[in-house]
Amino acid sequence: MKDSTITSGPKRVTTRVIAAMKQEGAKIACLTAYDFLTARLLDQVGVDLILVGDSLGMVFQGHKTTLPVTLDEMIYHSKAVVRGVERAMVIVDMPFMSYQAHPEEGFRNAGRVMKETGAGGVKFEGGERIADLVYRTTRAGIPVMAHLGLTPQSIHQFGGYQPRGVTAGEARAILKDAKMLQEAGAFAVVLEKIPAKLAAQLTRSLKIPTIGIGAGVRCDGQVLVVSDMLGLYEDFQPRFVRRYATLAETIRESVKRYVKDVKGENFPSRNESYG
Ligand code: KIV
Repeated sequence: MKDSTITSGPKRVTTRVIAAMKQEGAKIACLTAYDFLTARLLDQVGVDLILVGDSLGMVFQGHKTTLPVTLDEMIYHSKAVVRGVERAMVIVDMPFMSYQAHPEEGFRNAGRVMKETGAGGVKFEGGERIADLVYRTTRAGIPVMAHLGLTPQSIHQFGGYQPRGVTAGEARAILKDAKMLQEAGAFAVVLEKIPAKLAAQLTRSLKIPTIGIGAGVRCDGQVLVVSDMLGLYEDFQPRFVRRYATLAETIRESVKRYVKDVKGENFPSRNESYG
């Protein structure tokens, strides 16, 4: 494994940089962001790919699933994220029903996202059934990240958040889907909640990088939902989430002190006042 020296300079991350990282064995660090401030912080410390995930439906809007998120909402958040980023490549998740009905509609919606947000690419969930969409979109010059395994927009079809690709048949289907999406032009593929062995096999057999979430260490890169890894979203913690901070606790403690200061007339002080 090599150090990701290719990403240490101010150079903008593009699909070429991502492809070179796979070639060089340099790991790709990806996180989600939904707002300007967070995106700027992630960008300042070397995150390569910033995904405006439709997970914002759950961790930002408070929905139970990602399904209610609209295209207009994705565009709103993506514009804010793009404003905070100088180096990372920003990818926008295409929300539920913005591409499922017809490839032509999906392709046009992806074009709208690129035009209005200034992002570097889009992400679609699904395998074989979206291969035509991926082909049309990449042919138009729009970089596409694919997403296989547990695809949250199909949660009602799956009937829950169990790992995918655990049976031999399902594993074969994921391998076949990944190859098709690569052939269709996808520049990378997210692998969510699949056995580490299967993810390693995919990583070895694909030319495009694999970005894992709950898919083991043998992927070309990793992605986490930023609110999970910072300990802001406490509703549940999947086993694959590593918490690097406990921000929810920090916020509660800080706000508790503020409330106490206001009620006890300890805020503002003379120095924090005018005249
Ligand atoms: O919506 C999202 O945040 C995602 C990542 C978890 C890959 O799709």
